Amino acid sequence: MATAIETRRSFLHFDPSHEMSEAEIERLVSLAMLSSTPGNTQPWRFVVVRDLTLRKELRAAAFDQAQVTDASLLVIVTADPSAFQSDRERYSPTAGPETSKVVANSMMQFYTGREWLQRDDAVKSTGLAAMTLMLAAQDLGYNSCPMGGFDIDAVGRRIDLPETHVVSMFVTIGKPVSDAWHRGGQLPIGEVIVRDRFTHA
Ligand SMILES: Cc1cc2nc3c(=O)[nH]c(=O)nc-3n(C[C@H](O)[C@H](O)[C@H](O)COP(=O)(O)O)c2cc1C
Repeated sequence: MATAIETRRSFLHFDPSHEMSEAEIERLVSLAMLSSTPGNTQPWRFVVVRDLTLRKELRAAAFDQAQVTDASLLVIVTADPSAFQSDRERYSPTAGPETSKVVANSMMQFYTGREWLQRDDAVKSTGLAAMTLMLAAQDLGYNSCPMGGFDIDAVGRRIDLPETHVVSMFVTIGKPVSDAWHRGGQLPIGEVIVRDRFTHA
């Protein structure tokens, strides 16, 4: 796992002639679906875009970034922030009716009237799923690029996004034809670990 994390990089140029099989796509998405969500709310909907005309329109909405058309797989990770209200027994079929009722009640108490938190948690969950998707791709011999550089409203219109849903990010996956940028480097670890609480000058 550490190797997948250490070798994952964002690639900008993929081989447009490489096709990913339906079995590989389902494998990747099924692994992403094992990511954590609050109360197993599973707010994600993974829009797998295969239509080349649509890919070209999405590329135009993404400042002409080549990954959008050239990657073997373009997944638009979207989320339904109201998923916490869904039928818990269907979402967690093995949990049993009693547990489902307890979880449903606590979800309602936690989220009702706090639309910002519904949205935050849906987007947090899809962020975790996007990372799982990229690490799973790495494991299957692919490379990837997460993307947020696009006109979010234009993308929503192009994929007929339901009004209740939000677009979180793109994940593009494929076989690279050029190297990733030189790694930009990370901050000193002592700066990013905060021991117990922040200190203020
Ligand atoms: C939310 C988010 C949005 C991003 N959007 C883009 C993008 O639109 N285009 C792109 O080429 N890379 C995008 N990236 C990738 C970052 O630029 C990249 O992860 C960063 O430069 C570090 O490089 P590395 O992933 O190779 O370690 C995005 C990453 C994140 C997390």
